Amino acid sequence: MPAPGTNAPRTIAPRTIAIDGPAASGKGTLARRLADHYGLAYLDTGSLYRAVGMAVLAGGGDPADPVAAEQAARTLDPASLGDPLLKSAAAGEAASKVAVHPGVRAALLDFQRRVAASPQGAVLDGRDIGTVVLPEAEAKLFVTASLEARAARRVAELLARGEAADAEAMTRALAERDARDAGRDAAPMARAPDAALLDTSNLSIDEAFAAAKMLIESRTARP
Ligand code: C5P
Repeated sequence: MPAPGTNAPRTIAPRTIAIDGPAASGKGTLARRLADHYGLAYLDTGSLYRAVGMAVLAGGGDPADPVAAEQAARTLDPASLGDPLLKSAAAGEAASKVAVHPGVRAALLDFQRRVAASPQGAVLDGRDIGTVVLPEAEAKLFVTASLEARAARRVAELLARGEAADAEAMTRALAERDARDAGRDAAPMARAPDAALLDTSNLSIDEAFAAAKMLIESRTARP
């Protein structure tokens, strides 16, 4: 124990921030920016499911097959998470199909919690971070936006990458993905009861970041 009058070592608990929300709500951009701002590790958990979905497809399997999907999740190489192909619409579709299997979710849980336990703290974004992966997170946000705003953003992203994109088809695809993600039995997409809601439909990236920072800091009572 330090002698009276000396400075006792002060430990500041690492900050963990859980960000959930539907596809193209802006949660990824926001999460990355918050991680940079606070100096935290960052994990886009959607990339894990995308990598599993793509691994199943690459092996000629069906993402709806729970055995093939769980096998791919158990043997996932974290080095594959940076593959630009994971950003494709096909990877997103395959991801949401493998994500319904409880065995896949269980296989990916440890990795997510290890990143969250980084000494400097972490931001994780996904669908079940505040509810299942990190129910004890210091701050939780549920980031959403109207279906139209999300479809328009996703179309712009795909076009910028040179992929074909159509607003009507994208709106349908996102609505289907929302229904699958929110309707599955295993860790469905849901707002945790203690998560702050942030609707980014009419916000620029800077405005969304400022709002997220305010919500986080008002919940954690530290800058
Ligand atoms: O966030 P992103 O769109 O990359 O996620 C792709 C898919 O992965 C989601 O539609 C969802 O089905 C699944 N996912 C999940 N749980 C997470 C992150 C993503 O089920 N924590």
